[in-house]
Amino acid sequence: MTRRIVIDTDPGQDDAVALLLALASPELEVAAVTAVAGNVPLSRTSVNARVVCELAGRPDVPVYAGCDRPLRREPYTAEYVHGPTGLDGADLPEPVMPLADGHAVDALARLLTAAEPASVTLCTLGPLTNVATLLRDHPGAGRGLAGIVAMGGGFFEGGNTTPAAEFNIYVDPEAADIVFRSGLPLTLFPLDATHQVLILDDHLRRLRALGRVGRAVAGWLEFYERWDVAKYGFEGGPLHDPCVIAYLLAPGLFGGKDCNVQIEVESPLTVGMTVVDWWGVTGDPANCHVVRDVDAEGFFDLLIERLGRL
Ligand code: BDR
Ligand code: CA
Repeated sequence: MTRRIVIDTDPGQDDAVALLLALASPELEVAAVTAVAGNVPLSRTSVNARVVCELAGRPDVPVYAGCDRPLRREPYTAEYVHGPTGLDGADLPEPVMPLADGHAVDALARLLTAAEPASVTLCTLGPLTNVATLLRDHPGAGRGLAGIVAMGGGFFEGGNTTPAAEFNIYVDPEAADIVFRSGLPLTLFPLDATHQVLILDDHLRRLRALGRVGRAVAGWLEFYERWDVAKYGFEGGPLHDPCVIAYLLAPGLFGGKDCNVQIEVESPLTVGMTVVDWWGVTGDPANCHVVRDVDAEGFFDLLIERLGRL
């Protein structure tokens, strides 16, 4: 049986690899891709999502443009990581496929309202603005969701945008707060997990050997990893967002536990922090499955095998 998913994303090279992994995997039906402002402005993320669908040979997947700015804060982007286009590192044509009609949040509401209860998994790879807007403006739509699997946050590992905050949560903490208070089944991939998934030379060599798609991915990742390698002194850049998709395909590659997670929205010093009660010290009920352990080589074997199918 295939699992029906929607991917909410701000591509971004690692988002792009996540999209390719999903589109290459017969276990997943990608019902829609919804773009949000994040790594680069919406005007670019909504193009990049289509660049990736076309690279995968899937111009039939509807791509919607969503929110172009956070709920309450000024936009904050990361061209310093992803380059001015968000997909620097591979020379790919601008897309021919058009954007699907209408706002991503309305499209999500329609799709989820028409879906069987608890039948669609929402994979979030960027700031949570589209999702929070959906939950705020279409409160009934959540019943179509089986759950949300999100990349964001960091706890023992700290932040990558401020000492306390990871990028996706930092950009729109009020949106993250709405999602984490929603009561929907949540799974979170924080930096504590994704910082173990490092792109090494051997992975790049194996990707290049796959052909056109693999060469594009290797080009993206070589560009994208330079920032984290310089910043953290890692052996390679962390491949964050594809972990979300790999989790749906092979959950046994990952380990974690159910925790209470809250989002800091007020303190200027720690705004966007994911406060994860890993040790259960508060006694507050768990609202999220937090992933911390990763079989990184198992992940790369899966990723490279799937990208080889495109
Ligand atoms: C997250 O922020 C973006 O730079 C990546 O695409 C990923 O979603 C990592 O902090
Ligand atoms: Ca992302």
